[in-house]
Amino acid sequence: MIEVKNIHKSFGDKTIIKDVSAVMKAGQCNLIIGTSGSGKTVLMKCMVGLFAPDSGEVLYHGQDFTAMNAEDKTEIRKEIGMLFQGAALFDSLTVEQNVMFPLSMFTKWTFRKKHERVNEVLARVNLVDANKKFPSELSGGMKKRVALARAIVLNPKFLFCDEPNSGLDPQTSLVIDRLIKEITIEYNITTVVNTHDMNSVMEIGNYILYMYQGNKEWEGTNKEIIFSKNQRLNDFIFASEFLKDAKDMRMLEETGKISNERNMEELLDKDAPTLVPPPDDE
Ligand SMILES: Nc1ncnc2c1ncn2[C@@H]1O[C@H](COP(=O)(O)OP(=O)(O)OP(=O)(O)O)[C@@H](O)[C@H]1O
Ligand SMILES: [Mg+2]
Repeated sequence: MIEVKNIHKSFGDKTIIKDVSAVMKAGQCNLIIGTSGSGKTVLMKCMVGLFAPDSGEVLYHGQDFTAMNAEDKTEIRKEIGMLFQGAALFDSLTVEQNVMFPLSMFTKWTFRKKHERVNEVLARVNLVDANKKFPSELSGGMKKRVALARAIVLNPKFLFCDEPNSGLDPQTSLVIDRLIKEITIEYNITTVVNTHDMNSVMEIGNYILYMYQGNKEWEGTNKEIIFSKNQRLNDFIFASEFLKDAKDMRMLEETGKISNERNMEELLDKDAPTLVPPPDDE
């Protein structure tokens, strides 16, 4: 579990994160959503210690990370895996070397043991026979999977993914989302995902924190989001008319109003003009 308490962060005179608090549980995908520039990456970087918040606390195992000494911070960092926005692979290193990097940094394992672990995680993200390839030889989806393999290679308790689906087609996005969800449950990881992908929200959003101009505007689950009356959230999530209709349908489904196919047909037809049979020719 990670607890975020009253985080504030400014750059110069511009306040980016305003008093944000959240509880993110283990074995769950915790999503931070919001429009571009709403502060998702800055909040995530405050959580992992890449930015120092101006005030507030980030608790790992109940201990405030921001107030820890360098040694304790290093211990927590070993438990954190991060998939950066844009994958951030080392271009001059092969897939294998990229994934091995955290092992070389944080362990004293033999090359053979590291190699075994690398192969294990590459298999876990369904990337076999890619060990010797360079990032420039990979598709976008493959790059994300390498980045995910690198993020989980140290068996993290906390996994941070910043826009894991950006630039991917909807089907490949779904593969990545499901992989993140499976890994989260399998290893009981506290996973935090930044996204503005509506599909991800519905697919994996156990907990969703909606950021609006640096504030926590809404929080809840992917079930609750269907019923949300927050106008800003609805305008963001259900941006198109099609998605607004989909939301209405899901609401009806969830409330059990559509209990069978017949009711569904009646509902779909409710605005259709009644067909009056033409009078018989006499
Ligand atoms: N290092 C920095 N120095 C100054 N301002 C920054 C810095 N990093 C981010 N910002 C500002 O903070 C605001 C929030 O940026 P952030 O990257 O968190 O947005 P985001 O929600 O992740 O957007 P996106 O969806 O585009 O990734 C932006 O106005 C950005 O210009
Ligand atoms: Mg971002």
